[in-house]
Amino acid sequence: MQRKEIEKFYISKIKKLRKYDKAYFEKDSPLVVDRDYDNIKNEILDLENKYKYLKHKDSPSEKVGYEPSNKFKKVEHDIPMLSLANAFNKQNIEDFLKKIKNFLNMKNYEKIVFSAEPKIDGISASLKYIEGIFTIGLSRGDGKTGEDITDNLKTIRDIPKRINKSNFPKILDVRGEVYISRSDFKKINKRFSNPRNAAGGSLRQKDFNETKKIPLKFVAYGFGNVDSQNFKTQSEYLKLLKEWGFNTNSLNRLVTTIEDIEKNHKMIETKRSSIDYDLDGLVYKVDDLKLQNRLGFASNSPRWAIAHKFSAEKGFSVIKNIEIQVGRTGALTPVAKIEPINVGGVIVSNATLHNQDEINRKDIRVGDTVCIQRAGDVIPQVLYVDKAKRNKNLKKFNFPDKCPSCGSKTIKEFNYSTKKNDAVTRCPDIEFNCKEILREKLKHFASKDALNIDGFGKKIIDNFWNLNMIKFPADIFNLNFKKISHLEGWGDLSASNLEKAIKKSKKISLDKLIFAIGIRHIGQENAKTLAKYFENLKRFENLFEKEKRKKILNYLLELDGIGKTQINSLETFFSNSNNLKTVSNLVKEIDVTDFKTSKSGVFYGKTIMFTGGLSKMSRAEAKALVEKEGGKILGTTSKKLDYLVVGESKPTSKKIERAKQLNIKILDENSWYSLLNR
Ligand code: IVH
Repeated sequence: MQRKEIEKFYISKIKKLRKYDKAYFEKDSPLVVDRDYDNIKNEILDLENKYKYLKHKDSPSEKVGYEPSNKFKKVEHDIPMLSLANAFNKQNIEDFLKKIKNFLNMKNYEKIVFSAEPKIDGISASLKYIEGIFTIGLSRGDGKTGEDITDNLKTIRDIPKRINKSNFPKILDVRGEVYISRSDFKKINKRFSNPRNAAGGSLRQKDFNETKKIPLKFVAYGFGNVDSQNFKTQSEYLKLLKEWGFNTNSLNRLVTTIEDIEKNHKMIETKRSSIDYDLDGLVYKVDDLKLQNRLGFASNSPRWAIAHKFSAEKGFSVIKNIEIQVGRTGALTPVAKIEPINVGGVIVSNATLHNQDEINRKDIRVGDTVCIQRAGDVIPQVLYVDKAKRNKNLKKFNFPDKCPSCGSKTIKEFNYSTKKNDAVTRCPDIEFNCKEILREKLKHFASKDALNIDGFGKKIIDNFWNLNMIKFPADIFNLNFKKISHLEGWGDLSASNLEKAIKKSKKISLDKLIFAIGIRHIGQENAKTLAKYFENLKRFENLFEKEKRKKILNYLLELDGIGKTQINSLETFFSNSNNLKTVSNLVKEIDVTDFKTSKSGVFYGKTIMFTGGLSKMSRAEAKALVEKEGGKILGTTSKKLDYLVVGESKPTSKKIERAKQLNIKILDENSWYSLLNR
C-alpha cells in the first residue's frame, strides 16, 4: 500500500473505534463484543508500530484508556480528602520544618518526628468500615465529594472485606492508594499510557467485571473519620493497619532531622527504578497526631504534611514557536511550542518560559534545541538552551509590548510587599473587557475550587467560547442544551449530564461566589475572610454602591489578611460598570447561600487583635483557634475591637495605649486562653 492509502485505512479504523466508544460510553449500548473491540484497537496499535508516521489524537495510544464513567453516585466524604503541598528541594523542606515550628511556637533545636512514606503514583480511595465491615468505598473526586466505587473496590484482593479484630475502631475510613505494579502493567494490554491511568481507568469502569480483570493493588496510609480512635501517632496507626490485614509500604520510616530526610530521600530515589511500582516522591507527615491536630489545614492541604518530589525527568527538543498566553489575571505567559517528545512517559508539546526576564536570561529563541524538564504534575519548563546546536541565523525573541488579545499597552505592576516591579508582564485590562481574560475567567469560574461544574473543563469552555455560546458567567446558565446535543462530539446523554452539572452548581456559598468572580488578589482565603464579614449576598452587594463601598473598604482594611493591595483591587473591580453588570447578571441566575460561621464558638461575634509574642503558641495558631471559635481577627486597633490580647514578648505600646483610649478590653495571654475553656 502507498502511504496515502495506509493513512486512509488507519483513519477509517480510528473512526470506527470512535463510533464504538461513543455507543459504549455515552449511549450505554455497545455495538460490538469486547473481543472485536480489542481487535480493532490492536490493529490500530500495530499499524502505528509499523508505520511510525501514523498518529491521531483519538488513537488508543494517545488516549487515557477508556474514559471513566460518570455514572457513579456522588457521596460527600465525612472528612475531606485534601491534597498535599509539594517540596522539590532541601530549601523547600527546610521552609516546611520552619513553618511548622513557628506555628507550634517551638524552638529551632526542638525535634519533630515525621513518618516518611513513599508516594505511590496511583489513585486514592477512602474505604469506610462500620463494625469491621467494608461498607462503602469512595474515590477522591473533588476532595469534598467522591464517587461511590464500592463494587469496583471490592474486586481488589488487598482490600479486607471484613475485619474481626477487637482493637478495630467502630467506624474507620481507611485511606490509601489503588495502583498497578509495573510488571502487571506490562502484562495487561496497551490500552493505557501509564500505570496510573490504567489504575484510574479500570477503577472507574461502570461494570465491575471490567475492573476485576485488572490486577489492582491497594496500600493503606491514612484515615478519615474515626470513632473510638486507639492510636496516637501515624506510625502506630500504620502498624495497626498491618495487624488488621492491610498492606502498608515496607519502605515507611521515621525521620527527624533534615539530614535523615535527605538521606532517606536519596536512598529511595536510587532504588526507584528497581521498585515495582511508580513512585513520584515521599510524603512526610508529623507523626504525633496531637500535633497534627494543632497544625490543622490551610485552604487545600494540611500544614502537617508535604510531598517531597523526586528530581524531574528531562529530555531535549526543538522550539517551533513561542506563543503568548494571556491568563485570567492578565499575565502574559510565553509558552514554547516544541516538537513533541516523551519525557518520562508523558508526551510533552508545550513548555512554559515563565516571563520576559526568563527568556532574556536563558536567551531562548525560536529554533533552539532546549532541555525540557517535567516534574510531576507541574507544567513542563525549559531548563536551558543547547547553544552548540544553535543556528547562527536565529533571532532574539521580542517580547510583545501590547496585549496579543486586546492590543492594550502592557504593564509591570508594582508589588507593595517586595517594593519592586513584578517580573510578570500584564495586560492592564482597564475596562475589564479583554477577550482572552474574559475567557480565562470563565474557566476559573467553572473550576473545582469555584463553582465546580462537573465535566465543564477548559476544552469545552474554549469550544463554546469559539462558537459564541458563552462570554460571561451568566451565559453558562442560559445554554441551549438541545443545540449542544447536536454539536460534534456531543449527544443527548452528554448534553443532559452537563445540564445537570450546571444546575447543581447553581447553589453556591458566598465565599465560593466571591472567589469565583475572580477579583485580583482575592484568593480562597481572602474570599473566606470577606464572606465571613458580609455573611450574605445582600450585604455583599453593598459593595456595588460607591458611598457604601467607601465605608466598607475602610473597615475591611482592618481585617487580617486584607491589605492595601486587596482594597485597591476591590475598589477597581467594583467601580467598573462592566463588572457590576457581570456580577448582577450572574447573581440573578444562581442561589447564593449565606456563609456559615460557627455560631456556637466562645468568640462568636467578637473581634480580637493580638500584639506581642505569645508563650503557649504562635500567633498563627492563636488566630486559627479564634476563627475556629467563631471570632474575627482584626489587624488594627479601632472602636470595633472587642479584645486586645497582649503577649509577653515585645507588645506594641502604641496599640495598647490606643486600646485604653478606646476603652477596649485588654487581656493577657492566660486570661485569653482561659476563655477557651481548654
Ligand atoms: S497522605 C491530606 N500519604 O498523594 C493527606 N498521600 O497529593 C493527603 N499519596 O491524593 C494524603 N502515597 O493520592 C498520603 N503515603 C501517602 C501517599 C499519598 C500516595 C497520594 C494520594 C494523595 C496525593 C497527595
